[in-house]
Amino acid sequence: MSDPAPRPATPPDARIDHAASLRYWNSVPANANVMLGMLGQYPWYTRIDLRGSRTFLQKVRRLIPDCPTEGKLGRGVDCGAGVGRVTEGLLAHVCTTVDAVEPVDQFLQIIRDSTLKRDGVVGDLYPLGLEHWRPDKRYDLIWTQFCVGHLTDAQLAAYLVRCREALTPTGVLVVKENQSTDPRGEDMFDAEDSSVTRTDEKFRKLFSESGLVLVASELQVGFPRNFRLLPVRFYALRPV
Ligand SMILES: C[S@@+](CC[C@H](N)C(=O)[O-])C[C@H]1O[C@@H](n2cnc3c(N)ncnc32)[C@H](O)[C@@H]1O
Repeated sequence: MSDPAPRPATPPDARIDHAASLRYWNSVPANANVMLGMLGQYPWYTRIDLRGSRTFLQKVRRLIPDCPTEGKLGRGVDCGAGVGRVTEGLLAHVCTTVDAVEPVDQFLQIIRDSTLKRDGVVGDLYPLGLEHWRPDKRYDLIWTQFCVGHLTDAQLAAYLVRCREALTPTGVLVVKENQSTDPRGEDMFDAEDSSVTRTDEKFRKLFSESGLVLVASELQVGFPRNFRLLPVRFYALRPV
């Protein structure tokens, strides 16, 4: 058996360049089809993804003592919201009010102009990267999907601590992210959007170091195998 490839000298997250990420996302056209660009040109992907999220959240609500299992939660926030795909397809159905955090203004503008914003379902909008966001209120649900790869490990740990402190007594933080398939078990750097894809082990280490405990974790199922997409994992987290 040949030796495994040498470990990279520079940790993958040290290569993250926020300016390069923002340049990349600003180059993605912010129109109604923007999610196709964000999610690999597969229109069916988002249907499967959102259905999986609804089912996962329903299970999680039953696992949290005193969390209402029926009806809407109070305030949620869509972190790294893009054009509001998750806000519209999930959070607006399960929360009375949904805030959104997103650093790319052309994406946030779509949320600003949406019917959900006019109807008051979408609440406060924060034009910030998650590394700069300081929650100024408490949330019943903090949803963070397909965006923490833009944060370094240290920034992600600090973000997780802030989220932990911003949860209501029955609140929950959900992180839903791609998983590294690197054969050496390393996080993977992607130069295209200057992000890292982390291993399950790395996520669990950062959660535990941030004073969070896993209420539930599972893989998203239902994506056709022939597309060889990265595995996607949900983590539902609460303060230790
Ligand atoms: C793959 S898209 C996911 C959007 C949305 N969460 C979804 O699932 O539809 C990645 C998003 O992360 C945003 N992003 C880039 N850098 C970020 C940062 N530092 N903090 C938060 N979001 C960031 C991008 O602008 C983009 O909207």
